[in-house]
Amino acid sequence: MFNIVRREEMSGGTVILNEIEAPLIARKAKPGQFVILKAGEDGERIPLTMADTDPDKGTITIIYMVVGKSTALFKDLKVGDAYMDVIGPLGKATHLEKVGKVVCVGGGTGIAVLHPITRALKEIGNHVTAIVGARSKDILILEEQMKAASNELRICTDDGSYGHHGFVTEVLKEVLEAGDVKLVVAIGPVPMMKFVSKMTAEYNVPTMVSLNPIMVDGTGMCGGCRVSVGGETKFACVDGPEFDGHKVDYDELMLRLQAYCEDEKKCFEDYCTIRDA
Ligand code: NAD
Ligand code: FES
Repeated sequence: MFNIVRREEMSGGTVILNEIEAPLIARKAKPGQFVILKAGEDGERIPLTMADTDPDKGTITIIYMVVGKSTALFKDLKVGDAYMDVIGPLGKATHLEKVGKVVCVGGGTGIAVLHPITRALKEIGNHVTAIVGARSKDILILEEQMKAASNELRICTDDGSYGHHGFVTEVLKEVLEAGDVKLVVAIGPVPMMKFVSKMTAEYNVPTMVSLNPIMVDGTGMCGGCRVSVGGETKFACVDGPEFDGHKVDYDELMLRLQAYCEDEKKCFEDYCTIRDA
């Protein structure tokens, strides 16, 4: 069992942080890697990229959005409760290299995944500009942490309630125009990663994205997480989750992510009806 030692609610309770005792994973995990968690015996296996690790304390931190029955069950877990299974670290770690000027672009809960990568890129000597976006100020997460992890933080909100009024891509264009950007890392909703990659291709700037397709085993056995990258089929769980953003087939990824939407919606509604009865 994997005990929860810290729990925080963000974005008005729609995003949850759990710090979990998992000493072996905490010791081995690197930025960019993920774990698969199961709340109980009959629970669904949910892959989540780690938002932080503390090898000394023996803990890992996950931040997730409540989007369906399984994440609603996760949300019910309090400090002192435990996840039944936490498997990891899985996937390849982020390739970290000192290249000079780097831009890290994060959208919504993708900012949680971007945070340790931003920090690591700065720690090895890159100059990191972070651009983060949320629909509105009250649901923006990890502002202080991203400020500390980067050299410069730019904030965007879709409704203009904080920072730049508009999408992260608008500020990215400004930074790319200034020149000398050697690498862009983008993590967030698939449309965001698609349009960031489209833009950076025009400026010929290498771009890394982290993909979150449907996963089952997380070890390359089931094929559930397959994505098309540069015309080849890759398994995000073992070949990724990070890929060259210019080569990803985002439209196919979006279609595959929507495959079970109706079933997931019905399952969540049935769960809420029983829970609230
Ligand atoms: P969201 O839809 O509110 O978008 C967050 C920000 O992304 C927006 O404020 C905007 O700046 C940018 N954005 C969105 N669509 C864009 C577009 N078409 N062009 C340019 N920029 C755009 O995000 P949310 O509701 O918080 O959802 C988070 C999403 O991130 C979910 O879809 C989730 O699956 C995904 N996610 C991905 C990972 C990953 O590893 N790739 C990790 C966590 C979450
Ligand atoms: Fe099964 Fe990747 S999750 S192959």
